[in-house]
Amino acid sequence: MRIAVIGSGYVGLVSAACFAEIGHDVIAVDNDAAKITMLEHGEVPIHEQYLPELLKRHLGRGIRFSMSNTEAIQDAEAVFITVGTPPSATGEADLSFVEAVSSEIASAVEGGKVIVEKSTVPVRTCEWLRKSLLLNGARPGSFSVASNPEFLREGTAVTDFLYPDRILVGADDEISAGTLQAIYDPLTSGKYYQQPGVVPAPGVPPARARIIMTNAKSAELIKHASNAFLAMKISFVNAVANIAECVGADISQVCAGMGADSRIGPGFLNAGLGYGGSCFPKDVQAFQAVAKHCGYEFGLLSEVMRINAEQRQRFLRKVRSALWTLRGKRLAVLGLAFKGDTDDIRESPAVEVIEALLQDGAKVCVYDPAATARAQAVLPANGVEYASDPYEAAAGSDALLILTEWKEFATLDLEQLRNLLKYPFVIDGRNLYEPHQMAEAGLIYFSIGRGVGVPKNMASLVSRRGDEIQAYTSLLDPPSVAQAATVA
Ligand code: UDX
Repeated sequence: MRIAVIGSGYVGLVSAACFAEIGHDVIAVDNDAAKITMLEHGEVPIHEQYLPELLKRHLGRGIRFSMSNTEAIQDAEAVFITVGTPPSATGEADLSFVEAVSSEIASAVEGGKVIVEKSTVPVRTCEWLRKSLLLNGARPGSFSVASNPEFLREGTAVTDFLYPDRILVGADDEISAGTLQAIYDPLTSGKYYQQPGVVPAPGVPPARARIIMTNAKSAELIKHASNAFLAMKISFVNAVANIAECVGADISQVCAGMGADSRIGPGFLNAGLGYGGSCFPKDVQAFQAVAKHCGYEFGLLSEVMRINAEQRQRFLRKVRSALWTLRGKRLAVLGLAFKGDTDDIRESPAVEVIEALLQDGAKVCVYDPAATARAQAVLPANGVEYASDPYEAAAGSDALLILTEWKEFATLDLEQLRNLLKYPFVIDGRNLYEPHQMAEAGLIYFSIGRGVGVPKNMASLVSRRGDEIQAYTSLLDPPSVAQAATVA
């Protein structure tokens, strides 16, 4: 099928490449000339596993790029809108980019085109899209509008697209329902999975992908509610982690026990600095605004946002309690991206924490496997150094902070770290290690929702570095020091 994808960002570019991968003829559009030039040369502007391979495989055959919406729309049977829907000042989704595209679509629409909203949009956007197309001159009956929300996670977006938990279609007429079923048939029939050389499944390859057909409003609501629920789950586990810290429980054990219940599930129960990214913060705000607009005060989501913001503050308090004063201190920081396996720093908790540390007069030496270039564009030049690996960052630093859950940060050489650090402090915002493991390596380890890991041979640490270490640990809250004794 001939498909146009309007907007080649994280969602649009992955969707375009995957539509080509399952056999469609795709033209992807963006208004960023530099990005289009990169893509036409087979270069991928974002960090996504398998995307470079897909672009190389299909460039010039199943996928091409353009800067003209009209050119893309004219020839397409289905037009996917994947432009940004950023939060406005009031927290509502700013749909001006969606509306701008719809007016261009209206001028190029002829018989039977299906216009599909894939960006995350508030419920009823489909209705507005229909009105906007008619207002801008599209002939009634010459088009239909449907919702096909994406459930792509950055870093695993390609496999999330090709091996989805479900494909969600919100269609209010037979034409758009039939068109979208045809587009996804290679996945829902399982034919794609039988082909040689396909993108490998993240787990057991499925026989076929599940498609859920519903109406447009329900599909729009499913998307917003799903993201808000996942964000709520994260804030809930962080609130429980804070209780665990107060009583000396271990949040990892608590979550293992909670997650064993099939109604709760083990996923999204990782306590830490909280959620960031271009979706959860925006979607929780937008969903609350949509609810208010519909006459319902969704107060629960205010708490989800408050707890999330509080996690950063609690972490900063932990850093201060470990190091006493921060002014002039050099802190090694691992992580800039809002999560592991991505180069995206939008709403990154790591960037927020780093900015607060700089405000406190600390200097930071940062390492991130993929997000450094993007962070350099937003972080201040003075007070920030960039390292090429975790050990370079740790050398001579007063403490090591872990802010992003990159897998490589969970397998560091702890002895080398301890010897490189000026003081043996590790403050982990993503719970990548066990307290006893760090204590045994001679590191004083602070994390989220658990006791402090303190090496049994504290005396040797004090003698080796004077009594500053002793002074610092005496600042720790008595319960956690008592806890540390058992942990160590
Ligand atoms: C999310 C949704 O998962 C996806 O379905 C939607 O389409 C887009 O938004 P994404 O934002 O890419 O995907 O990342 P995700 O893996 O969901 O993580 C979001 C944030 O939550 C990250 O900052 C991550 O560090 C944090 N997180 C995630 C936790 O703090 N704890 C967890 O257990 C899981």
